[in-house]
Amino acid sequence: MESLWIENTKNSTKFPKLEKDIETEVCVIGAGLFGLTTSYYLSKNNIKVVVVEAEKEIGIKASGNTTGKITSQHGIFYDHLIQDYGEKFAQKYLEANEKAITNIKNIIDENNIECDFSWQDNYVYAIKQDEVEKIKNEVKAVKKLGGEAELVTKTELPFTVQAAIKRPKQAQFDARKYMLGLANKIINQDGKIYTDTRVQDIAKNGKEYVLITKDANIKAKKVVMATHYPFISAPGFYFLKMYQSTSYGLAVDTKTDLFEGMYINVEPPIYSFRTATHNGKKVLVVVGADHKTGETIENDNNYAILEKKVKELYPQSEILFRWNTEDCIGLDKIPYIGEFSSIMPNVYVGTGFKKWGITSSNVAANIVVDKILGKTNKYANIFNSKRLKPIKNRWEMQNMLKQTVLSFALEKSEIPIGSIEQIQNDNAAIININGTNVGIYKDTSGNIFSVKPVCSHLGCTLTWNNLDKTWDCPCHGSRFDYMGNNISNPANKGLELVNIEDLKQVKK
Ligand SMILES: Cc1cc2nc3c(=O)[nH]c(=O)nc-3n(C[C@H](O)[C@H](O)[C@H](O)COP(=O)(O)OP(=O)(O)OC[C@H]3O[C@@H](n4cnc5c(N)ncnc54)[C@H](O)[C@@H]3O)c2cc1C
Ligand code: FES
Repeated sequence: MESLWIENTKNSTKFPKLEKDIETEVCVIGAGLFGLTTSYYLSKNNIKVVVVEAEKEIGIKASGNTTGKITSQHGIFYDHLIQDYGEKFAQKYLEANEKAITNIKNIIDENNIECDFSWQDNYVYAIKQDEVEKIKNEVKAVKKLGGEAELVTKTELPFTVQAAIKRPKQAQFDARKYMLGLANKIINQDGKIYTDTRVQDIAKNGKEYVLITKDANIKAKKVVMATHYPFISAPGFYFLKMYQSTSYGLAVDTKTDLFEGMYINVEPPIYSFRTATHNGKKVLVVVGADHKTGETIENDNNYAILEKKVKELYPQSEILFRWNTEDCIGLDKIPYIGEFSSIMPNVYVGTGFKKWGITSSNVAANIVVDKILGKTNKYANIFNSKRLKPIKNRWEMQNMLKQTVLSFALEKSEIPIGSIEQIQNDNAAIININGTNVGIYKDTSGNIFSVKPVCSHLGCTLTWNNLDKTWDCPCHGSRFDYMGNNISNPANKGLELVNIEDLKQVKK
């Protein structure tokens, strides 16, 4: 299941697969918003750049599945930033993200990119009376930092809100069309893009790097790790400071007139609303019902949470598209941008965009490009990827440490012991066969697919996700399809396949 943005633009690009060795000044790994924006700016500055993308198409992972809100209002955030990091820090965060909105609009205008851009007011709203104080404090915080904000009690949404922060001059677009426009421009500016080309490893070669792919190698002076979650665990150690969270999305024909503006609520379950155009008609986009990736999903169906809400608001509505994706969340909720690690010079990273990667990826691209060009960027310190500040969010810290310990533990979780016959069609379980744990999925016809249910990243036991028919990792959010193929980082290879018949022969 894919987003309306991807479905509407499927198979619209054809880039070659890398088949012979090449050399370049900068290699950007990953063609999402961060990788493509970085490559756009680099090629505009006459830097020789090569983009390599693991998928057959560009922009079909996190960036193709966004809500498409271009905003500096990342939920309720500035009051927290002022309290924990001080006014100057918060002001720079706001300024960097406001500038990103202008930058994105400039890229669209300068290159005539058709991507359904429109200016919109952005609202964060409170439904319950006890959330109103948070909204009031956020309005005060944004105003204190010099941003435009207004406290309102009425919106165009078809239900009552207790209060909302209104931020004018924010925007929305179709991120996939925007990325297709960026890719065209990169090619026009003499950049190269290769798809279906997964970087398996990075090796040092004197002062340069060699990026290893299945069929060929790329020699590069500088590397940008734009893979969403970095697939190199050490050095960098991003797995110690980031987890992933999955969100679900629906595009809906409500059969009624719809509102203007972009909306998100304060407390979970999160509902993020906007409208979009599909086949010339205005449709509702609602995204939310988040959970930590790899957590067992209650009732196997988080779309139901969103669908129930939509039916309450628009009883005649028809669901057109359903999709879900994960994003990386840093423990202090501030993206990691800059040098990948002190011991890998000239390798750069941008990650931890915590579901606000549209402005954050533009901020990241500007910081990384300035570093490559040897220029100072006044926002670089705010997002410093090598920061060692104490984590303010103690609950998240404890949670992450627990998961990390689990990822190194030998006996990680209690697993269900049963027989293959007990598994129903179109479902899966972990079965112990002669002392070996096997993840077994039975398709709708009863065909069996068996894998070792151990994450190829750092060895956590995987959980079965019956909604998407995937094996998901509760530690850092890697995902694998039922045949064991890796579909989401930080793991960068598939699962070990298991031959059940061989195991049955093993004597205890
Ligand atoms: C449901 C949802 C809604 C969202 N809505 C919004 C929103 O409204 N506004 C907002 O600001 N943000 C939003 N976000 C956040 C935003 O979508 C992300 O932060 C952003 O798209 C991340 O971009 P990226 O380039 O880092 O990652 P990606 O788009 O995932 O790009 C990474 C690319 O790297 C490739 N790759 C990975 N490993 C390799 C390898 N080894 N070799 C080669 N290629 C590789 C992948 O295939 C992928 O194409 C949302 C996120 C979600 C999940
Ligand atoms: S994602 Fe890290 S162990 Fe699975």
